[in-house]
Amino acid sequence: MTNSFEPALGRPASGVIVTGGASGIGAAVSSALAAVGRPVAVWDLDGGAAAEVASDCATNQGVAAHSAGIDVTDERAVAAAIEPAAEALGSIGGVVHAAGIVRPALTDVIDLDTWDDVIRVHLRAYAFVVNALLPELRAAGSGAAVVGIASIEGLIGHGAIPSYTAAKTAMIGLTRALSHRLGPSGVRVNCVCPGYIETPMLAPTIADAGVRAAFEATVPLGRVGAPGEIARVVRFLLSDEASYMNGSAVVIDGGVTACGGQQSNWEA
Ligand SMILES: NC(=O)c1ccc[n+]([C@@H]2O[C@H](COP(=O)([O-])OP(=O)(O)OC[C@H]3O[C@@H](n4cnc5c(N)ncnc54)[C@H](O)[C@@H]3O)[C@@H](O)[C@H]2O)c1
Repeated sequence: MTNSFEPALGRPASGVIVTGGASGIGAAVSSALAAVGRPVAVWDLDGGAAAEVASDCATNQGVAAHSAGIDVTDERAVAAAIEPAAEALGSIGGVVHAAGIVRPALTDVIDLDTWDDVIRVHLRAYAFVVNALLPELRAAGSGAAVVGIASIEGLIGHGAIPSYTAAKTAMIGLTRALSHRLGPSGVRVNCVCPGYIETPMLAPTIADAGVRAAFEATVPLGRVGAPGEIARVVRFLLSDEASYMNGSAVVIDGGVTACGGQQSNWEA
């Protein structure tokens, strides 16, 4: 066992696949991993941005890095991306599922296209990407780990985004089931539940100063979070530092769910 983010002495740093790694939280995870010497493969619909993140990791952190412009809901594309990633990274000992979309349903409870698209990318792809990478993860041996990027919406309901809320809640359930299933083969599975994080996904929502202020008023820390604040926890969960963590849903939200979204309107 090791006491740092680094791999155990003598064991090469295993590579990590980061879906949705071209933007926001996924891009921050890719950089955070590269900063401690872990090779990364960035898989994203936006192949150009994925290549830029991978190139930044290789150039600035000196790690092996690879990218693929793929739709992670397409099982054939995922299957085809594995071999080149494994070749470039040396081995694959980690997966982070950060690919995601949000589609508000404001005029009706739900429409079928929104439901299908949202469930497909958050939940179905989480299951099938992990499934496709199982041979690599098992071959990496103990120390292999999966992290799903769920959300506080997996813990509290939100009427404007019912499909997203359902998908994130199910991601937590899938994390628990996978931790049970894969733990015996040495693969740990955890997820994180970020709160309001300043990324391109949240940008349209908080572009309205009133909405940003309303969010800030309900977060005990008084601000929205930065992608790096999620990435550092994800890096920890992928590392040997978290060797006994399995099946957890780690909340990283400045305290907003702990206090039920009540406003903090007093002086500290
Ligand atoms: N930003 C927040 O406040 C927040 C809070 C909680 C959870 N999350 C979750 O974090 C994850 C990352 O979100 P973000 O805020 O960084 O958003 P983002 O929009 O910045 O990044 C999402 C990335 O996923 C990629 N992507 C979407 N669909 C894909 C597909 N089918 N195949 C491959 N790539 C695909 C996009 O191209 C994009 O690069 C998502 O799962 C999101 O639901 C975000």
